[in-house]
Amino acid sequence: MAAKVTVNANGPIKVEGEFELLDGGGKPFETSKKALFLCRCGQTKNSPLCDGSHSATGFTSPSESREL
Ligand code: FES
Repeated sequence: MAAKVTVNANGPIKVEGEFELLDGGGKPFETSKKALFLCRCGQTKNSPLCDGSHSATGFTSPSESREL
């Protein structure tokens, strides 16, 4: 399955399927997980992964499809 990326309203970005997650220098994060939730609120203590902090901080961001 190709990578599927879902931008969740008021929460993280879910990445699932076949994907590779790299840091800014191009070095891969090692994981065997089939799905990851990437933080987009900036409040996680486990970057780049969501740790649920978005709920406590009241992060809001819509997630409606549109042309990019
Ligand atoms: S989106 Fe969940 S901690 Fe940032």
